[in-house]
Amino acid sequence: MKILAIIGSPRINGNTYKAVHEIEKELEARDSNIKFEYVQLSRIDLKPCRGCFVCIEKGEERCPLKDDRESLELKMKQADAVIFASPVYTYNVSWIMKNFQDRFAYRCHRPDFHGKKAMVVVTTGAVGLKFVSFLLASTMGSMGFITCAEVGVTFAPAHESDEKRQKREQNKLIRQAEVFYNKLIDTKPVKPSLIKLLTFKKQRKAFIQAPKDLVDYKFWKEKGWFEKKTAYYYETKIGLISKMISKIL
Ligand SMILES: Cc1cc2nc3c(=O)[nH]c(=O)nc-3n(C[C@H](O)[C@H](O)[C@H](O)COP(=O)(O)O)c2cc1C
Repeated sequence: MKILAIIGSPRINGNTYKAVHEIEKELEARDSNIKFEYVQLSRIDLKPCRGCFVCIEKGEERCPLKDDRESLELKMKQADAVIFASPVYTYNVSWIMKNFQDRFAYRCHRPDFHGKKAMVVVTTGAVGLKFVSFLLASTMGSMGFITCAEVGVTFAPAHESDEKRQKREQNKLIRQAEVFYNKLIDTKPVKPSLIKLLTFKKQRKAFIQAPKDLVDYKFWKEKGWFEKKTAYYYETKIGLISKMISKIL
């Protein structure tokens, strides 16, 4: 099983990498077939998004920036699961992680990662873990990733850090690595939440009315997502109550 870990810190051997490396050790101890590959966003060529809208309106292959975006997308597609990791920088993800998200913004319109499992890892000096984890998980979720495990770790400054605190943070990593592992070996398609179901319906309604030569329209049509019998991005069981509520709404 191949796991791609995307590290969004400018420091290649920083706290965020260290936290993910702990998860790697935990997962590999459980299953020797698990292989990690790291992508340090600060070490690849991913130029800042210019906001030109070309990827969204005309297709990502027309993006004027020639860099590692395409090969990174291929890596994400080929991986069985992806870990997205970022430090908290001024109550947000790091700028490198944000740029990564913006460079793949077209995937919010043409979500091509549906069914792919993900884990979100956030590190901080003191605050912001919940908020930044939520931001990261929801953005990657809008591209189709299913966040199966989330962990936020505090790396307190050396003068505030004690052994008890470090152990507590270490235990959080171990627990969430286990949660992630159990989700990875569960082969049943993940049931969508009501919000995800509604998002599918809302997007379908928007794109079905779009001009037929628009890339989003063509993408959705090719996927078969406009067809009445298609209830969600991928085949999965949908609870009766969710089905009824989404129909009414
Ligand atoms: C520019 C910058 C902004 C930061 N902003 C916050 C913050 O808002 N809240 C906080 O608790 N820690 C903040 N920190 C501390 C980092 O979140 C923390 O040290 C993190 O673990 C760094 O991970 P890294 O070593 O992988 O870069 C900030 C650090 C930097 C360098």
